Amino acid sequence: MSDTHPIEGHRAEGRDKVTGAAWYAFEHPVPDAVYAYPLQAPIASGRIGAVDTAEALAMPGVITVLWGGVAIPFGTENFELALFERSEVTYRGQLVGAVIADTLENARAAAAAVRVDYAPDEHDVVLRADHPDQFRPEKINPALPTDTGYGDVAAGLAGATVRVAATYTTPVQHNNPMEPHAAIASWDSAGVLTVYDSTQGPTADRDTIAAVLGLDPDQVRVVSPHVGGGFGSKGTTRPHVILAAIAARAVDRPVKVAMTRQQMFALAGHRTPTIQRMELGASADGRLTALAHDVLEHTATRTEFAEQTAACTRVMYGARAMRTTHRLVRLNVPAPSWMRAPGETPGMYALESAMDELAVALGMDPVELRVVNDPSAEPESGLPFSSRNLVACLRAGAERFGWAGRDPRPGVRRRGRWLTGTGVAASTYPARRRPSTATASAVDGGYEVRIAAADIGTGARTALGDIAASVLGVDAARVRVVLGYSALPDAPLAGGSMGTASWGSAVAGACEALLKDGEHGSADTADDVAKDGGWARHSFGAQFAEVLVDPLTGEVRVPRLLGVFAAGHIINPVLARSQFIGGMTMGLSMALFEETAVDATAGGFVRADLAQYHVASCADVPSVEAFWIEEVDPHLWPGGGKGIGEIGITGTAAAIGNAVYHATGHRVRDLPITPAKLLATA
Ligand code: MOS
Repeated sequence: MSDTHPIEGHRAEGRDKVTGAAWYAFEHPVPDAVYAYPLQAPIASGRIGAVDTAEALAMPGVITVLWGGVAIPFGTENFELALFERSEVTYRGQLVGAVIADTLENARAAAAAVRVDYAPDEHDVVLRADHPDQFRPEKINPALPTDTGYGDVAAGLAGATVRVAATYTTPVQHNNPMEPHAAIASWDSAGVLTVYDSTQGPTADRDTIAAVLGLDPDQVRVVSPHVGGGFGSKGTTRPHVILAAIAARAVDRPVKVAMTRQQMFALAGHRTPTIQRMELGASADGRLTALAHDVLEHTATRTEFAEQTAACTRVMYGARAMRTTHRLVRLNVPAPSWMRAPGETPGMYALESAMDELAVALGMDPVELRVVNDPSAEPESGLPFSSRNLVACLRAGAERFGWAGRDPRPGVRRRGRWLTGTGVAASTYPARRRPSTATASAVDGGYEVRIAAADIGTGARTALGDIAASVLGVDAARVRVVLGYSALPDAPLAGGSMGTASWGSAVAGACEALLKDGEHGSADTADDVAKDGGWARHSFGAQFAEVLVDPLTGEVRVPRLLGVFAAGHIINPVLARSQFIGGMTMGLSMALFEETAVDATAGGFVRADLAQYHVASCADVPSVEAFWIEEVDPHLWPGGGKGIGEIGITGTAAAIGNAVYHATGHRVRDLPITPAKLLATA
């Protein structure tokens, strides 16, 4: 068990970042660049008619206006990236054109002068439980079965001593990395496109850009050495990258595009809202006789995205009978996309809230309820766990938090004017890896590792240096890790908490090969990764929250959040701690603040800025502590880490919601838990 809070550590690029020498996408000094400013549809459904660019073209500095009538055809079916190809509008904020000018200000001013006629159709942007157009997707992300089950759920519920049936809802949420999405595109005389982008994966970004533009991957170079956060929103190529590329081709000069914070709400992806129906039955000893998790969420009209919201329920508890289902409704919204722990984040909110309700109904301690339902094998698949230490996390967390002797009665504790309470929830996230390549070379008395990985602020460069140094048996200061360019050996995304395991396997392999050769080594882990079947591999954790609730205003504060995680071997404690507490903070933010308002009348997302889309700030998180249990798991990759980027957000919102119930006796089942909702249930 980690005992201290490491706060000092070395970041390979730390000095470059604090001195401003680290260039982010928009900052690369590309000579002669001009600026593109997007035109976005003000309707959520319909068609584009006539476009009048005359006034805009006459304005200062304007070079050209791009729109459907002049754009190039694409080699893609990807609706969101085949810019301006169709006259169809399927969501408010869709890119319909762009103005290119000598300065950003001139481009922006002229964009307001382009006249676009629209023929609007009726739109539908609101997900509701009784929506008539629900359908069953063929699979859910990443390629999981849509519906699963075993046993007789109806009989399990009928025979239960205690039952819970409740619906939990979560709103549209948006990633808000500190660095907004931006790209600079530049074509050389040989037809090679260089894109300075902010991406979670240079290899995948290159391949997507090439496919969309009908190019060979060798004709695209992605440069992305530093990324100011992503959380999933930079895991897929976003439309501004394609805009920069086609604009640069149109004007035969480099073109810069930066999304504004407001534009990100339409163009950078979002987390689908969810409506989750939970049904649980248990015998008097707390053992689950039935567990059902039925999910409804939205997708776009032209692009299908099926968040794997109930997948966590297939993993967590050993119910005698189980059912999980997913249904979608196609709405006039941008395609949903990845946001930290897609699936597990909303799913664990519902499951872990329902488990708390079951504990209350049983009169059982919520830690003990989870312990008695801890399965010996993965419930849905029957696969053995490579390692599973949820119970150890619950026990260690309870000890550190001071859970023992907790009075279960809700709404009876006061601290001054505040009602106080505590809550617990479990966390989980899959431990996976993807094939990767890497090289390692002896250079200048040290070593250089090359891999097209991405450091999105996590410290990947530093962690990979640690892995290389330990294989080479040298100090990490002698290893230089070069990442963030598509010209480097192909590597998978920084996503799915798979980065370190995927890249680390290849880096370790390349360093082992270097030790044999003396000068150079390379590795391709495709064969190794193909043999990864046979075990259920997941991280687990337990989170404990203390809340204060003002009974007059409904204000909720979280003075204390404590998590204990079991995520395999922790490679770099400083970096790991920051991932855990970052995830937990994002979970707190989800519990109390984060919500993108949907405008049912006009379509689209409103309150689209950081003044109105509230994200937890320092004053909201006075004490967030993360600890971990050192797991030795021989069934993982040689480095032994399970991935830590996402598990910290899973379960947090439930722990806080459960604590709010304990403080007040009122259960808000609709995130975020705002003062208005809390007072309305009181
Ligand atoms: Mo993360 S949502 O897998 O980029």
